[in-house]
Amino acid sequence: MAQRPYIVGNWKMHGTRAMLAEARAIDRAAERLIKVEVALAPPFTLVHATRNEASLIAVGGQDCHPADGGAHTGDISAAMLKDAGAGFVIVGHSERRADHGESNADVKAKAEAAIAAGLNVILCVGESEAERDAGKAEKVVGKQLKESLPEGKAIADKVTVAYEPVWAIGTGRTPTIEEIGEMHVSIRKLLADTLGSGGKNVRILYGGSVKAENAAEIFGAKEVGGALVGGASLSAESFLGIIIAAAEKLES
Ligand code: 13P
Repeated sequence: MAQRPYIVGNWKMHGTRAMLAEARAIDRAAERLIKVEVALAPPFTLVHATRNEASLIAVGGQDCHPADGGAHTGDISAAMLKDAGAGFVIVGHSERRADHGESNADVKAKAEAAIAAGLNVILCVGESEAERDAGKAEKVVGKQLKESLPEGKAIADKVTVAYEPVWAIGTGRTPTIEEIGEMHVSIRKLLADTLGSGGKNVRILYGGSVKAENAAEIFGAKEVGGALVGGASLSAESFLGIIIAAAEKLES
């Protein structure tokens, strides 16, 4: 594959300063496994401290507001994240879409604001269980991606897509390897159609109940370029197993 495998830990609403020891341990492990690009998205409150603790891994936010600044109590702009030391931001996670009613248009505006502020973007898409059962998974994900992808072909090297089936998040359930491969191939086609040659190099991550035990198998699915990991990224020990699997299965 064209780029290094990308393994990103999304800590969601977990972590106080006591967790910085895990971030340090993950950073040290990443130094030994340089074939893999490793990143962590801690809660906003730990972005700056994680950046200071870690020397190698990328550090990012889990969301940003589309505006540069203003009267938006409780929100964080992309420029603020960048100032705190972030290099990327996750947008469109299904938990934000569900908990905060974020639409594809909202996600697109956030992604464009992030790129304008100099951040890379991890754009999340994924179908619900009912949508998969109804045979609509590819259609739903295709529509999400088309409507939330920032404008312009030049964004190709700034964006990573994360396919996270909503029903696989935190449940211990995953699609079959064939289903993961089919969805990733369909996302690749859409990216190539939309972004031209740049779309061929956009990394597509799988997310949803990735663990050290199933990572190698998942990394064998077509077009999977890494993983967006929730629960298993909260300890260096479990996250390391996934990074090692990526180093073994996904090296260029
Ligand atoms: P889990 O790995 O805990 O299923 O979470 C996946 C996820 O939502 C990452 O963004």
